[in-house]
Amino acid sequence: MNVQTGELAPQSDTHMADDLGIDTTTTTAMATETTLLNPRFYTTDFEELDRVDVSRVRAEWDALIAQMKSDPNKSHFKKNADWDQVDWAGMEPTLRREFIDFLVSSCTAEFSGCVLYKEMKRRGSNPDICELFNYMARDEARHAGFINDALREAGVAVNLGFLTRAKKYTYFRPKFIYYATYLSEKIGYARYITIFRHLEANPDQRFHPIFKWFREWCNDEFSHGEAFALLMRTDPKLTSSFANKLWIRFFLTAVYSTMYVRDHARPAFHQALGVDIEWYDQEVFRKTSAIARQVFPIEIDIDHPRWLPNLRRMRDAFGQMDAGTRQGGLAGWAKRMVGGAKAAYGFAAIYTIPVIKSTPPVNVRLEPSY
Ligand SMILES: [Fe+2]
Ligand SMILES: [Fe+2]
Repeated sequence: MNVQTGELAPQSDTHMADDLGIDTTTTTAMATETTLLNPRFYTTDFEELDRVDVSRVRAEWDALIAQMKSDPNKSHFKKNADWDQVDWAGMEPTLRREFIDFLVSSCTAEFSGCVLYKEMKRRGSNPDICELFNYMARDEARHAGFINDALREAGVAVNLGFLTRAKKYTYFRPKFIYYATYLSEKIGYARYITIFRHLEANPDQRFHPIFKWFREWCNDEFSHGEAFALLMRTDPKLTSSFANKLWIRFFLTAVYSTMYVRDHARPAFHQALGVDIEWYDQEVFRKTSAIARQVFPIEIDIDHPRWLPNLRRMRDAFGQMDAGTRQGGLAGWAKRMVGGAKAAYGFAAIYTIPVIKSTPPVNVRLEPSY
């Protein structure tokens, strides 16, 4: 994939897209849309990030950079004989719609990382920071490109060049980028490896070849998460001050609940994989929380009696807001307001669950172990 120019779907694919009743304009619009639940594009204070001094974590930093430089996944993101033929036209229509939605959303999230990391590399002058962000941008470009190849087979590739220009960018201070991106990288790892292990045990439920690529893939996400863990360790206040701990709690709540609501919008997709969504999400939260003990001194108690009921409340609330938007008019507006209040209540109920405290280890680095 050429991330400089982005890509257009080849013309020859359009007949397939017609058969599916969806096209590359539709998927690009899906990726460009900014809602509370869609993956966002971020921008930050690149100068502040460029001033980060990694000497406090030098040994661990150099080891991580050496590993990224060795590029273990250099030839992984290429279709080979394992890439089975996909019968897009024969796929059950609801499954097809949800699966395309899953691929578009994953591609947007991967590409969002690519855009942010590449911009940091471009603007920075700190060799440590530039080198790291260069390798991470390289990986995310491959990930987004590989997903887009899968979409291209269906004639619905996202126009990434257009997306870069048209998508709204959300500004986050560097420390919020650390919290949010650290979590999304580690969650990405936990999601990919959980699906991979499940399909390894149940290969008959692997309805698309892309899942075979998830094991090596998730190792990239794991090391990206490691990088943000080290960046947070360059300034101990980021994970120890009272205010920052409240922020970490906020991001844990927001990232976990968004994932829960988003996954529940794709019942047919998870059913085809043979995965119970609530089981899968709890599994991903459990792995992510265990990993995050490397750097966060607090975690959400996901076995607390208020946890699941309020996630379900938020899921229903978002459904209600969606229905209100579709309905329109005064009644639709009222539905949206009630849904919004319900979601806020659910969020607050989760945010105030007493957290589990721990002391992060002296050495931050971890290896993928699931
Ligand atoms: Fe990625
Ligand atoms: Fe990543």
